[in-house]
Amino acid sequence: MRRPKVLFAISAVALLGFVLAVVLKRVADAPSDLSETPHTDTPPDAAMIARGAYLAAASDCVSCHTVAGKPPYAGGTPFKLPFGTLYGSNITPDVTYGIGSWSDSDFIAALHRGIAKDGHHLYPAFPYTNYTKMPVSDVLAIKVYLFSLKPVPIPSIKNKIIFPFNQTWGIAYWNLIFNPNRRFQAGPNRSALLNRGAYLVEGPGHCAMCHSPLNLAFAPKKDREMAGGVVDGLRSYNISSDLEWGVGSWSEAELANYLKTGHSENRGAAGASMGQIVQNSTSHMSDPDLLAMAAYLKQLQPQRGVVEITKNIAGAKLDGLQTFAGELEGRHIYEGACMGCHGSGGPATAYAGNLQGHPSVNDTSSLNATWVTLHGVDYWTAQGHVYMPAFSGAYSDAEIASVVRYVEAAFGPGGATVNGKAVEKARK
Ligand code: HEC
Ligand code: HEC
Ligand code: HEC
Repeated sequence: MRRPKVLFAISAVALLGFVLAVVLKRVADAPSDLSETPHTDTPPDAAMIARGAYLAAASDCVSCHTVAGKPPYAGGTPFKLPFGTLYGSNITPDVTYGIGSWSDSDFIAALHRGIAKDGHHLYPAFPYTNYTKMPVSDVLAIKVYLFSLKPVPIPSIKNKIIFPFNQTWGIAYWNLIFNPNRRFQAGPNRSALLNRGAYLVEGPGHCAMCHSPLNLAFAPKKDREMAGGVVDGLRSYNISSDLEWGVGSWSEAELANYLKTGHSENRGAAGASMGQIVQNSTSHMSDPDLLAMAAYLKQLQPQRGVVEITKNIAGAKLDGLQTFAGELEGRHIYEGACMGCHGSGGPATAYAGNLQGHPSVNDTSSLNATWVTLHGVDYWTAQGHVYMPAFSGAYSDAEIASVVRYVEAAFGPGGATVNGKAVEKARK
């Protein structure tokens, strides 16, 4: 007689759980502010298109929705996750393959709540948890801009995600915890400058997506804001205001200059995904907006880093290259292949010259220095081409490891232990 009782109890709990789940999903899917919807579709006007173009750049929509050789926003960009591959969709105004049939309300639901036109939940690799901070007027400006572009008839690629992660309804519960679905609120005790910076960093800029460590549910940890993370095998460094680990010792002008050009003398270089962000996003932003972002970053809570990096040693004397005696193979490679651009130890002459002070040569994990040496740097800003050749084809794993150890010892504190195995992993 016990069995049925247990079964009954289990069924009752399951039923209760199911009802609760349905109710919770309803709550999770409901727009939090009903006054914001619905909307009649907004007619285009030149000023709104220009504002939308600027906001789309500040949000970096293009990087995730474009592949080389295809028109912008036509989709197909792969995102490798531990449980499969997602593809950025075609978001051109093509009625069949893009978002040409989407109403304003459909578009707002996607950017604020991560819900597609057909009602399915989008994966938060699409940073709607940040875009949710944008007011409806900004979201609609982006839509008007996208709808002013040429429709591109290229079908989106279907996501390849394994069970159970392909059950997108489950994301509704994730949203309940991790998507506040709230617009940005200007802090009354903050200056207009800081409010603007906060909006750009937390909303369109989605900087925390890479620069904050993630929790087990792949959401940025709130209490470790901008303490640094690892994305695609590279460190996205600590950009909190910590003097030693973060960007606390950078001036606001240095930070703004980095975001505009991808480079700040004796501070850092933007390569890999950050180079893409500079090219497609921050280099298109106005100086006042970049300075506002810098001011906001500089007043964030200082955070200790995720790994020890002795950065921010700008101004220290560079004498390593002349006196450093170890790592002969690496030195030989450096003199043949790198010195032309990165210099021979004197003060920096070329734009890309001196690596001293850069976190990549002060980071004993060597992740970024290895990645950049293998895959190079290649992007454009208004200042010109930021270019370093990829050396993956020119040298063996052991040779790359040796030149990276040499560069770190010569420009940084040394002590890097990167070996051929680590290089092999970074080749992918
Ligand atoms: C970090 C990468 C990333 C950025 C930045 C990004 N997206 Fe996406 N977006 C994605 C991915 C990945 C998907 C597909 C998600 C899925 O299939 O669940 C997506 C899906 C979408 C969709 C749903 C399309 C459909 O057919 O269902 C829309 C609309 C969209 N993005 C618009 C935008 C806009 C507008 C911006 C800029 C404001 C933007 N995205 C920025 C990665 C990104
Ligand atoms: C897609 C991931 C990603 C996003 C989003 C991102 N970053 Fe980065 N960021 C990186 C990586 C990776 C590096 C290291 C680049 C390198 O070493 O070449 C970096 C480096 C930086 C640095 C230099 C830090 C140092 O100590 O050298 C600053 C400053 C920075 N990012 C600011 C920002 C801001 C501001 C935003 C938002 C507008 C942002 N990043 C968004 C990945 C990202
Ligand atoms: C054609 C010029 C050129 C050559 C040759 C070159 N580099 Fe670079 N390197 C660059 C540029 C440009 C950057 C981006 C730097 C910047 O904006 O300050 C860079 C950046 C770097 C960085 C910083 C990575 C980061 O993103 O933080 C490292 C480390 C580096 N190079 C190592 C090397 C090594 C090792 C070699 C030789 C095997 C080499 N470079 C050869 C131009 C060059």
